[in-house]
Amino acid sequence: MKVTIENKNLHDIQADIEIVFVIDKNLEHKWVQDRDTLEALGFKGEKEEVAFLPEKRRIYVGTSLDHDEIRIATAKAVQTLKNKKFKRAKIGVYIQNCPITNIKAVTEGAILGDYEFTKFKSKKSEGGLDEIVMANEEYADKSFTIQNAQKAIEEATIVAETTNLVRDIVNTPPNEIYPESFAKLATQLASEEGIEVQVLDEKDLENEKMGAFLAVARASANPPRLVHLSYKPQNPKAKIAIVGKGLTYDSGGLSLKPSDYMVTMKSDKSGASAALGIILAAKKLELPVEIHAILGLAENMVGGNAYKPDDILTAKNGKTIEVKNTDAEGRLVLADSLCYAQEKVEPDYIIDIATLTGACVVALGEYTTGVMGHSDELKETMLKAAKSSGELAAELPFNRYLPKLLKSEDADICNISSSRYGGAITAALFLSEFIEEKNKDKWLHLDIAGPAYVQKAWGYNPYGASGAGVRVVIKWLQQKFVFNQKHP
Ligand code: BES
Ligand code: ZN
Ligand code: ZN
Repeated sequence: MKVTIENKNLHDIQADIEIVFVIDKNLEHKWVQDRDTLEALGFKGEKEEVAFLPEKRRIYVGTSLDHDEIRIATAKAVQTLKNKKFKRAKIGVYIQNCPITNIKAVTEGAILGDYEFTKFKSKKSEGGLDEIVMANEEYADKSFTIQNAQKAIEEATIVAETTNLVRDIVNTPPNEIYPESFAKLATQLASEEGIEVQVLDEKDLENEKMGAFLAVARASANPPRLVHLSYKPQNPKAKIAIVGKGLTYDSGGLSLKPSDYMVTMKSDKSGASAALGIILAAKKLELPVEIHAILGLAENMVGGNAYKPDDILTAKNGKTIEVKNTDAEGRLVLADSLCYAQEKVEPDYIIDIATLTGACVVALGEYTTGVMGHSDELKETMLKAAKSSGELAAELPFNRYLPKLLKSEDADICNISSSRYGGAITAALFLSEFIEEKNKDKWLHLDIAGPAYVQKAWGYNPYGASGAGVRVVIKWLQQKFVFNQKHP
């Protein structure tokens, strides 16, 4: 799927079909030419409502001018035209406060909405759009130029295509993607972009004294890897570490998951996949920040040498952890990976992304990322970035009582809380134990357990991996470090 803009009026653009947005159910608008037909069809222009008029070569979609509604409406049009013969669609541009925002939304909606995971299908779907062309008309905004629009399309294309790459990685089954093969893929993708790569194997992890990470990985036939990718532009404005949970499979370990809960746990590598996507997109966008992506890759399995409830592990920072549940493994891998990131990178900001807890899904629902940390400023800027990016996010607040729930009788800390409530926050507070005092306000935790894997399609996300985390963090980096970022 390619999105372009032509320096022409809509009428003068050659295309097989036209996409028409019906804004706020306003069927009286001059763009709506087939009013009688639409009325006869009972089309009201409700959000996500589609009327496909092939003989008129028009497809109508209801939406508002909110940027995320535009993403969804574009995706609906693209999905309706799947398996059809139309190749090239044209679309007018809908001007609200900021045409650039809408141009980006159309681009992202088209590319994200077009996504399918067909690698393992013998029969691939045929047909569908190749290209959406936008028209350059009706711009009252003097600052708008075709060059600006093209740059916006380019940027949005990078972000959306990277999100689709992350979806592909997460959707790939665990018999193909395990720590070694993930590390190989990351190395290959990074090398193509000129990003530095360092891969630590189990010996290196031992040398780094990562006792928690190693314990999780021990029962698997597939040994663990830690991948450290670095993007170092000249004169960076800041140094950022992105640490991703990369459980290529989470069976629960000896605290084995029931079968129904184990299915989809190939998606437990979503955090590491997002971290990889973020550094690739940052490089392609030439963001003026040094980025380190640290992927903690392991498989949580059962076996005679598996780590056990009652084991006491020693993490890289020397803290001892009493294991009470081997299914709370992500935090053990992250504990050591966060220590590693702080020691090796000395970052100005450290963001971890993880499908960490089912409790986060209970708290916020399947669509929303949980944002946790000690710095209000950092949380607020991330929530703002989420709004602009189209990803949903909400804060889960720390308080003075919750940390006590992690107390251990025999070790420094337990890997699970003694309460059945507030599990997303206590998991984050566990991670906080591995953040050095001087770094507390530099750290932010994103729990993507809800949105990372889609069980029932929503918005522009089909079944399967959504690529959660990529768009919000890229937007955060742009809003914080790219100065002429006047568009929300
Ligand atoms: N990977 C899971 C969390 C998860 C659950 C992600 C559902 C996506 C969807 C994590 O490792 C886990 O199993 N967490 C446990 C923690 C519990 C044992 C304290 C959970 O959430 O039940
Ligand atoms: Zn688990
Ligand atoms: Zn897990």
